[in-house]
Amino acid sequence: MKGVTSEVIAEVRSRANLLEVISEFVVLKRAGKEHRGLCPFHAEKSPSFHVNPEKGIYKCFGCGEGGDVFAFFQKVKGLDFLDAVRDLAGRYGVKLVESAEDRQEWDRRTSILMLYQQACQYYSHLLSDPEEGALARSYLQLRGITAATAEKFKLGYAANAWDGLYSYLTGTVKAQAATLEEAGLVRRRQETSGCYDLFRHRLIIPICDSEGRVIAFGGRALGDGEVKYLNSPETPIYTKGQHLFGLNLAKDEIKRQDSVIVVEGYFDAIAAHQFGFEHTVATLGTALTERQAKLLVRYTESKRVYLAFDSDSAGERALERGVETLNQIAEGVGIELRALRVPGGKDPDECLRAPEPQGGQAAFAAAIASAPHLIDYQLERAVEESDLKSHTGRIEAARQVVPILAQIKNSVGRSEYVRQWALTLGLREEALLADVGDYRRRLGSGLPARMPAQRAGSGSLKSGHLEAERQLLAFYLTSREDNERVSTALADEHFIDPVNERIKEALDGIGSQFNTVDDLQYKLMDRLAPDSEASRLLVDLVFKVEEIRKQKAPLEVMLNEGRARILKERMIRAKNSLRERMGLAGSESEQSELSSKISQLLQLESALLSSGRTQDEIDEIKRKIGEILGDKGQLTQLETKA
Ligand code: UTP
Ligand code: MN
Repeated sequence: MKGVTSEVIAEVRSRANLLEVISEFVVLKRAGKEHRGLCPFHAEKSPSFHVNPEKGIYKCFGCGEGGDVFAFFQKVKGLDFLDAVRDLAGRYGVKLVESAEDRQEWDRRTSILMLYQQACQYYSHLLSDPEEGALARSYLQLRGITAATAEKFKLGYAANAWDGLYSYLTGTVKAQAATLEEAGLVRRRQETSGCYDLFRHRLIIPICDSEGRVIAFGGRALGDGEVKYLNSPETPIYTKGQHLFGLNLAKDEIKRQDSVIVVEGYFDAIAAHQFGFEHTVATLGTALTERQAKLLVRYTESKRVYLAFDSDSAGERALERGVETLNQIAEGVGIELRALRVPGGKDPDECLRAPEPQGGQAAFAAAIASAPHLIDYQLERAVEESDLKSHTGRIEAARQVVPILAQIKNSVGRSEYVRQWALTLGLREEALLADVGDYRRRLGSGLPARMPAQRAGSGSLKSGHLEAERQLLAFYLTSREDNERVSTALADEHFIDPVNERIKEALDGIGSQFNTVDDLQYKLMDRLAPDSEASRLLVDLVFKVEEIRKQKAPLEVMLNEGRARILKERMIRAKNSLRERMGLAGSESEQSELSSKISQLLQLESALLSSGRTQDEIDEIKRKIGEILGDKGQLTQLETKA
């Protein structure tokens, strides 16, 4: 568990208030014992996100996402488990007992963060230096950036020297050269000893995480003939495509506007903020990644995202290249994508500073107000060059729109679009629909994979034994008496599903060392916390416990039923493996031995079905299966191979 002990996890859990943590991201309303709100992890209009503070868990009945305070924090902040524990521990004042290795990694990141903070101060100090910063300040002035904006974005200047930052950080701050190198702030000289600064004679633009901590720099050349932007390399604190420039400054306005504008460049975001569009972030020259999309939707309820692209042809082509991926991401994350066509073929920065009426604040605002859905925009663009008055032109246009229509995953939406476009192009709806269908089929497996089926979601996907195992697991949690009975009955049982089995092992590990079943639930959550798959399943179980309590079916019956189903699945698997082996069997004696085992299993299977299935009978059948398969208390290889 890499040093974060279950004691620490338990302590953090007991101090961290789930409602408080979740309320930071979701507006919750009380409903009985639970609180409900709009799920932050998928798009929805009515609240199916339930939080049960008593049990310390949440679950969305729309998308299936669920877990405890750690799971929520991981998911919403994009952290791994250990960092989520550390972060919450920090917030709630829990001291961590960690391994030396973890400690080192954590320290390393912390010291790099600190170096960036100090470098940022150093550079911004230089920018305001009357002499040193003069040139960079006049550059900003030339680009219409006010002093207030420069301060807001903590802009700076790296002087035209080889080791300004290096000397400062090794001298004043006493940083190690190796750490500075790892932080990507300096480089080691090839021939001689020593290091030199990465950024020289450049305007420095700090990139921050969503909490406003500086994690990287962009450096803009002040003259021509140099590479335009130099960016920090990836480091332990910075991974490209995981952050959005300006998000720390845009968060509040994104919430207020309930939408977000995404631009490409540093200056586009900076100018947008200065002109009052403070809900703007930048991707920094790359296409929006899924990670970034998820970051965005945290702050909006409508999840409306305006993608600003220069409406010159290069910009649009860039947009079109990324569009398929974007649509997939959008559908996955539940965002509403709009195409923000920046007027005048300019980038947002240029547009905002251009004279009215084509440019300026009002023109930009108008472009936002009239931004079409990305799919509509794509479709319109696709037919732009076809002459819809001519017969051949319409056929050509149809050829262009088919691949776009085929992308729409939702079949109701797709057929509605097909209807509309058939009308627009003067085609028969059935004909267009058939073409779109063909296209989808041809893409076949090439089509983006569907969202993975929820392992604990819709009922139809679960097979009998999986469900039976989970029912049995739930009984451990219904009451102390049930727990005793079920744990005795299942003492030497093994579940087929590995995740179920891991939960059972954790339950066996706790044994009877608990007070109430609520206490057991928390102990179990602490043990399973690092195992996200098992934790998620556990949450489903906890929600199920209530259902089972309500059903009030006698435990005895459900136990036997559940065990019977598991045995049945074991036999099915064993029979399949035996049949497979029969095909490969080398001798007749081997074949007849295998076939005799299969028929014995078949007999047992019918016994299982016909008997009243008392506990004794089931024990007996189980024993016989063991005999046939040579089972030594463990699931045999025959059964685990599905
Ligand atoms: P652009 O070339 O559109 O530059 O690149 P820009 O943002 O309009 O810059 P200005 O207005 O000329 O100053 C868009 C983004 O791509 C990344 C930067 O993040 C830039 O903002 N980029 C571009 C680089 O990282 N390196 C480069 O050399 C160029
Ligand atoms: Mn620009």
